[in-house]
Amino acid sequence: MDERGATLQIGENSLDLPGIKANVGNDGLNISKLRPNHGIVTYDPGFANTASTRSTITYVDGNAGLLTHRGYPIEELANSCSFLEVAYLLLYGDLPTKRQLEAWQASMQRHSLLNEEMKRFFDAFPKRAHPMAILSSATNAISTFYEEYHNPNDEESVIESAQRLLAKMPTIAAFAYKKSTGFPYIYPRNDLRYVENFLHMMFALPTEEYHVDPVIAKALNVLLILHADHGQNCSTATVRFVGSSQANLFASVAAGMNALWGPLHGGANQAVIEMLSNIANDPNATTESAIARAKDKNDDFRLMGFGHRVYKNYDPRARILKKFADDVLDRVKGDDPLLKVAEELEYAALNDEYFSSRNLYPNVDFYSGIIFRALGFPVRMFTVLFAIGRLPGWIANWKEMTEDPDTRIARPRQIYLGETTREFIPLHKR
Ligand code: SDX
Repeated sequence: MDERGATLQIGENSLDLPGIKANVGNDGLNISKLRPNHGIVTYDPGFANTASTRSTITYVDGNAGLLTHRGYPIEELANSCSFLEVAYLLLYGDLPTKRQLEAWQASMQRHSLLNEEMKRFFDAFPKRAHPMAILSSATNAISTFYEEYHNPNDEESVIESAQRLLAKMPTIAAFAYKKSTGFPYIYPRNDLRYVENFLHMMFALPTEEYHVDPVIAKALNVLLILHADHGQNCSTATVRFVGSSQANLFASVAAGMNALWGPLHGGANQAVIEMLSNIANDPNATTESAIARAKDKNDDFRLMGFGHRVYKNYDPRARILKKFADDVLDRVKGDDPLLKVAEELEYAALNDEYFSSRNLYPNVDFYSGIIFRALGFPVRMFTVLFAIGRLPGWIANWKEMTEDPDTRIARPRQIYLGETTREFIPLHKR
């Protein structure tokens, strides 16, 4: 493929579709003249074969099962970086120097406190409110304190908003969790680093000293890095969609959180644990019955944590998490019967023609919940943890979108199959 692209023959007419060369991965064809010149649109449900943007942030090689952020393999980043380093890399394009990282960490500490008026906001929710509903609502709510930073075309405002979102998200998440327990909110502390601060706000009580377990902090750093970004997935595409109308960063991220909540996307980590627990606790639910149900087209049950729109090989994040699960369980919690169920389920699926013929492998959500559980997080917080991890990816994509000269407000077309014009019948005659 080169800039010549391809020629499309439509009846007597032909249309040149200019090529767009990728550095790596799929090249593209620019179809923007197809509709204005020939009145034809393309049809691609879920945009499975459509590039909605050009990007330099993350590359996912679905066939090889590779993932890189700004050119760095995920394995390197997970093994050698802190989550804040990777967040900086995604946002600015390069790994931070020691001085840059110290300034970045200090900024996160400085902005970690919520305005005291936000406490009334949390009180308005019922105790059983799902923390994802609180997280997306609170993300919009905190934007009301920073309206002077809403302008997406002002670079300083964008960075200010980005820092406030990244710094306050762990505080919002921890307050949402404390709300569900009835225990008092624990405020952030400026002497703790990002992940340690979050763990302290989540699990400390005002009545006793709380010491962050370095093994848990290290494990959570890795988990957040593995969730940091992943190309134009459903929630990131949503953030770009909403941001394309020049909505502010807080509103765009809140929309992405709601997309992430779906069980086919980030909500899968909670659904996996519920599926594994059901198999472990219900004598009538076995790995065999789960596999059979997943293959049954008349049953809407799916093997949660399996399959992926892009990976037609093992998700590299799942590979890291599978190895990591044993290590974390050994060091933190001891055995977890759900890990054994997960490994049996994986073995059965990978040796079943239904899954192998469709290239269905474990994805990031298949093992992440087992580790989140071992670290002491309740299941309903799992997608919140995914959101904290994905936040720098959402922000980096939103920033890239606002800086791309090709960006236009997102407004897809449709193929209309409804009624053509009908004669109106007034009410008294219907
Ligand atoms: C994430 O996009 C990203 O990058 C997402 C993510 C990120 O980091 O942002 O990686 C995070 O969302 C991971 C995915 C978490 N979701 C789940 O684990 C839910 C279970 N998985 C499936 O629902 C599904 O695999 C999706 C949603 C992940 C992908 O859906 P696709 O690409 O639309 O695939 P499909 O539904 O067209 O499936 C193709 C075939 C179908 O069978 P046939 O019609 O060919 O007979 O595979 C079957 C599907 O029925 N299939 C499954 C299955 N996943 C696909 N069958 C049983 N169990 C499954 N899990």
